[in-house]
Amino acid sequence: MDHFNYQADRLCVEDVPLEAIAQTYGTPAYVYSGATIRRHFDVFEQALAGQSHLICYAVKANSNLAILGLLASLGAGFDIVSGGELTRVLRAGGRADRVVFSGVGKRRDEMAQALEAGIRCFNVESQAELTQLNDVAGSLGRRAPVSLRVNPDVDAKTHPYIATGLKQNKFGIAIDAAEAAYRQAADLPHLDVCGVDFHIGSQLTDLSPFRDATQRVLDLVDRLADQGIVLRHLDAGGGLGIRYRNENPPAPADYARTVGELLQGRDLELLVEPGRVLVGNAGVLLTQVLLLKPADHRNFAVVDAAMNDLLRPTLYDAYHDILPVSPREDGHKIWDIVGPVCETGDWLGRERELAIQTGDYLAVRSAGAYGFVMASNYNSRPRPPEILVEGEQMFLVRERETLDDLFRGERSPY
Ligand code: LLP
Repeated sequence: MDHFNYQADRLCVEDVPLEAIAQTYGTPAYVYSGATIRRHFDVFEQALAGQSHLICYAVKANSNLAILGLLASLGAGFDIVSGGELTRVLRAGGRADRVVFSGVGKRRDEMAQALEAGIRCFNVESQAELTQLNDVAGSLGRRAPVSLRVNPDVDAKTHPYIATGLKQNKFGIAIDAAEAAYRQAADLPHLDVCGVDFHIGSQLTDLSPFRDATQRVLDLVDRLADQGIVLRHLDAGGGLGIRYRNENPPAPADYARTVGELLQGRDLELLVEPGRVLVGNAGVLLTQVLLLKPADHRNFAVVDAAMNDLLRPTLYDAYHDILPVSPREDGHKIWDIVGPVCETGDWLGRERELAIQTGDYLAVRSAGAYGFVMASNYNSRPRPPEILVEGEQMFLVRERETLDDLFRGERSPY
């Protein structure tokens, strides 16, 4: 459930008409609903209430300081993949001891930064990383808490770019090689082996690969216990899908039940790293129609948002619903909604039935996750502002970039 609804024929976010936001802050603009994020987090918390757990929000999905601050205030932990994300979490008031650090390539300075901050755990993805981390921890006189990210070799049945749990993917340590890696880790003096981790992919709409992966990883946990390596937590990653169009993703309660049943009777704390499911449907990209180009073969509506603002459609062929902010009764046609960027791939939606006129506002839905964070300045386009709504209040949580922002740091020798 989210808080983007029509009230008296005007699309609103909570109690604020999107049109008012467009008029106040201009377009394109990302708009988030605080109540939706809070609700999604609560649903997840309740689903996991039966077991010892920590929800580590995957910062990469949306790393605005206000979103991180909101989640920190709800007691969330965080899953980070860079020193930059760690700095954001701490700046937003997140607790270091609730941070897990994922990623296939961590720099030594990032390892040091995370050790100094006192994070909860490093999710280590290779044997080479184990020795590097041991080195860095030793040089700082610390012990690094580690969990190994294992690659369980299951097919998550999602888009190939966001599937991560097959052995041909770059992620994690192959499950067959994991025991040897754990023995190596246990022998390294500056590491404290505390858990195991996996993440098989994103936008999962079927629980069976997830169940298989959990089972395989728990079998590993048992084999390790037989060798005297006793783990304290299992991190099941993120990946729960959302509805963009007609998907039927599992509810957090079903997801939690699946892991819960497998974990029953074990003394393992459960960590999860959801991103999309918490924030995806809590955001829209608001855009205005610049002009209409109807033609015999195809009708184009050119809007002021583009692939640099929302990359998902062109990168993954992803579907995002597009809604009129003030619907019109007549004049429906089939439109391709495209941006001004000089690429044929610059589209936000194809073959959408809409009644639109120049100047109308449209809301591109489900843009709260992997939206702004993947935006770029391609075509020297400043990135959009981000606005967070709480009830009747709107907060500008990131200003629109200016052209000066774009040039900052550039030098010419001529
Ligand atoms: N944990 C790890 C280790 C991850 O790699 C990811 C996502 C997550 C958690 C969070 O996954 P989520 O719950 O959000 O599915 N840009 C793509 C998604 C890339 C996901 C990368 N890893 C998209 O727009 O669909």
